[in-house]
Amino acid sequence: MCGIFGYVGKDNRAAQIVLEGLKTLEYRGYDSWGIASKIKNKQSLSLRDEKLKMKNSDKKNKFIVEKYIGKIENGISQLSPFSSQLVIGHTRWATHGGVTIANAHPHLDCTQKIAVVHNGIVENFEELREELIKKGHLFISETDTEVIPHLIEEYGKKQGFASSVRDAFNRLDGLNAIVAANSKSCEIIAAKTGSPLIIGIGENEFFIASDATGIIKHTRQVLFLKDLEMVILGKKLQLLSLPNGKKLTFKPEIIKWKTQDVSRGMYRHFMLKEIYEQPKAIRNITKNYGDQINHLVQIIEAAKGTFLIGAGTAFHACLAGTYLFSKIAHIHVNTAVASEFNYLEDFLNKKSLVIALSQSGETIDVVEPLKRAKEKGSKIIAITNVLGSTIYRMADYKMLLGAGPEKAVASTKAYVAKLVVLLMLSFKMVGKSKEIKAAMAKVADEVERLLEKENIEKIKKIASFLSSAVHIYSIGRGVSYSTALEAALKIKEVSYIHTEGLAGGELKHGTIALISKGTPCIVFTPNDQTHEAMISNATEIRSRGGVIIGISSKNSSVFDYWIEVRDIGEASVIPQIVPAQLLAYYLAVEKGYDPDKPRNLAKSVTVK
Ligand code: AGP
Repeated sequence: MCGIFGYVGKDNRAAQIVLEGLKTLEYRGYDSWGIASKIKNKQSLSLRDEKLKMKNSDKKNKFIVEKYIGKIENGISQLSPFSSQLVIGHTRWATHGGVTIANAHPHLDCTQKIAVVHNGIVENFEELREELIKKGHLFISETDTEVIPHLIEEYGKKQGFASSVRDAFNRLDGLNAIVAANSKSCEIIAAKTGSPLIIGIGENEFFIASDATGIIKHTRQVLFLKDLEMVILGKKLQLLSLPNGKKLTFKPEIIKWKTQDVSRGMYRHFMLKEIYEQPKAIRNITKNYGDQINHLVQIIEAAKGTFLIGAGTAFHACLAGTYLFSKIAHIHVNTAVASEFNYLEDFLNKKSLVIALSQSGETIDVVEPLKRAKEKGSKIIAITNVLGSTIYRMADYKMLLGAGPEKAVASTKAYVAKLVVLLMLSFKMVGKSKEIKAAMAKVADEVERLLEKENIEKIKKIASFLSSAVHIYSIGRGVSYSTALEAALKIKEVSYIHTEGLAGGELKHGTIALISKGTPCIVFTPNDQTHEAMISNATEIRSRGGVIIGISSKNSSVFDYWIEVRDIGEASVIPQIVPAQLLAYYLAVEKGYDPDKPRNLAKSVTVK
């Protein structure tokens, strides 16, 4: 997944605007980054142009492209500020071609008057590249993206820029989002069949980005570009249909986020900020989402077969949902890892209901089975955290999580928000709305208590003990099995320590062979029907030299470390993940990693 940001309009500080915008998108990919700027012809040669060996005559209407490996702060000082009113930029998460300057975006055509940034995979790029090389086009990168500016240039030999972009884009196989800039016509044209693109509508200026984070400081009026749409940004905004080029009408939406929602504020990392925002998210959902919950309950009750699907953390919430629906509402709901649902959905029919959980609303492993489910006439509920996202727009019924923007790659508050929604649905199904409100108030208070200094100090000590571990095991039963899986994912994705999550009952079916002296095991033993069996598991592990970190409402002699999580009945599933989130965060910090941008990962997996 990559980050795209572009600007065209009255402001001469387009390069600075785009760089600031790219910084807000680094969570989407941070291998390398670059910007392409049309600089105003009257400018004298700056030191930078000398470096770029640009002669004045060469500059006319050409893009200046500058690219860097690594994160934006590593290169920002090397960019000399210059005036420009047309700039596009990109932060890359490498798919085709290694992490090199040549492979970084933006990519140019032969004339250097067309610059392109791209998110997605051009599945037929080899064939297009061959075709273009035969026509004399020169390539300097290994990327699939580079075929796009040259294809636009080729079409542009016989037709205008807009129709060239449209014809070129329609030649691309796969799910793609492109932003093409033309230094001659001073336009930006964007088109998409996958991955998000949002247009910010200002006064005589337009912004285009992968999400609204970097736009809202300039304007709150936005247009979510839909799949198979194309937009022309220049003197005005034109929206067209990709298949037939017809003009489309549109109604801008207003983003309600506050700017502080998308900044780190007093926190060192977004991950920590978002962990601390959980009580607020819990209270917000409980207070404001009752009507939507009631509506979704009716849809679930009318369905013949309900499937919860999600990827990664979202799947763990789905798994928790199946336990909660069963235990509280006594209904059977299936679940599957979204990518596996591709092979499990043959029996979907018109009466089926698929509930997709996705923080970003862009996860390709969720989008694809949903498309197939819709073809079979199944109804779709989307529970996502991003207004206007692909999954949000695909659904027949949609619900925003209301957790506020989540920037850290490791999902925390969005996971907790999903659990709140699933608990509210389950309780509502058995007419216990009052009980859920009371329970959620206790949950928010308990999460707040877990975030207090005394508990944080305890967590830091345990993190320091765990930091030398090579393997960690995370074990739970019943709904705590989903907690064990989620805890394992948090720890491994930000601290890079191999952590295996498993159901307690599975321990003796293999994993116990791996337990030896000093092996750390996190055991979730809430005060429910799983408690005794989990204490037995802990005893079996300890007798083989394992070290037990008990997350429980009461202490036990079998624990080497105990983190208290007070008993709130079925709703305990929410606070019991918080110690694991904090352990993951402090482990990453202890090991000197950036928990917001873990290696090899991106916030949302929008390409297969
Ligand atoms: C969660 O911490 C991970 N970053 C990852 O597993 C994530 O949950 C998964 O990619 C799904 O993302 P989504 O919720 O945006 O669909």
